[in-house]
Amino acid sequence: MSELRVCVSDFEKEAKRVLPKTVYDYYRSGADEQNTLADNVAAFKRWCFLPRVLRDVSTVDLSVSVLGHNLSMPICVAATAMQRMAHPDGETATARACQAMGTGMMLSSWATSTIEEVMSAMTTSPGHGGVMWMQLYIYKDRELTLSLVRRAEEAGYKALFVTVDTPYLGRRWDDMRNGFKLPSHLSMSNFQTAFLAFSEGNYDKDSGLAVYVANAIDPSICWDDITWLKKHTHLPIIVKGVLNGQDAVQALNYGVDGILVSNHGARQLDGVPATLDVLEEVVGAVQGRCDVYMDGGVRRGTDVLKALALGAKAVFLGRPVLWGLACQGEQGVTEVLELLKVELRLAMALAGCRSVSEVSRSLVRRVDFTSRM
Ligand code: FNR
Ligand code: LAC
Repeated sequence: MSELRVCVSDFEKEAKRVLPKTVYDYYRSGADEQNTLADNVAAFKRWCFLPRVLRDVSTVDLSVSVLGHNLSMPICVAATAMQRMAHPDGETATARACQAMGTGMMLSSWATSTIEEVMSAMTTSPGHGGVMWMQLYIYKDRELTLSLVRRAEEAGYKALFVTVDTPYLGRRWDDMRNGFKLPSHLSMSNFQTAFLAFSEGNYDKDSGLAVYVANAIDPSICWDDITWLKKHTHLPIIVKGVLNGQDAVQALNYGVDGILVSNHGARQLDGVPATLDVLEEVVGAVQGRCDVYMDGGVRRGTDVLKALALGAKAVFLGRPVLWGLACQGEQGVTEVLELLKVELRLAMALAGCRSVSEVSRSLVRRVDFTSRM
């Protein structure tokens, strides 16, 4: 029996109950000892609010423009692979929920639904808006990579988020112990051959995904590949996985349209800082020359507000969406997005912010360790 779900962790508890262990472990895990995994969440507790009062907060406007699209809120959906393990409708359910909520979804290259079917799920459902972006892994096979770009362009995706933190897959111990692989009825639907679709292979005693990445993904990619990609597409390019000011400046030098501060949900290099802790450095280095987004550990409306105060234009959710999907498909994802929206609206009202543009750096202060909330 499902109980009333009032916060994201209620969704996670229920998801853990309903998902097969290997699937839950894959979704939940971070790399190695998972220090960064815990820190992504804990970082938000290191900041407190300095609210303003008597500001007439009877209406609060959450809308924001992201990459030229008006969204109903600064909360978007990050790419998470293989969503049909969570629910039979997988990525198409997530897309419909994003459409209904008027927000943006980043589709994983490793979706278990095709680029085209996810787009048509979004555009054929009644709703308030929403936009699709494509997350891109750069394959050793560049023609294959470009074919994903072409298909995304033709289907109507509006930007490419190029993941730059995954030349190899991080070590996720549970996946190694579980010999993680896709259930046999699923595949990475964007690929035709069984190997590229991750639907065959002998993965005993290792994470099948780690083996797949080592075989297929190009660990030699470098900044010149951003130039290469720009030559082949007119879509805006956002680099996903920047964690310091120097790389942010480098990204600007290579003409990117946006930067997503991300540590891949702490699944790659354990021991990197929580994303919230490097956000300000990146925002400072960028100096308004492009939008800066962040993901990692966002679980509450107050987390979103803190990220906005530290300079993020919008945040992205990874795992919370998977928990919603596992609990109740499209409805579950909608509930998670609605929950975060309600929480953000209340947090903004209580902080004296009537619109996203009124959220400023002076709203938050770092708390010292001893007075941590
Ligand atoms: C991811 N992430 C990810 N990133 C990416 O660029 N391509 C991908 O296919 C995936 N797949 C994926 C699967 C799962 C199960 C997780 C948890 C994460 C990373 C994702 O886009 C995002 O950066 C993080 O998930 C954000 O952190 P939270 O919200 O999960 O804490
Ligand atoms: C992961 C890959 C899919 O984090 O990005 O599992």
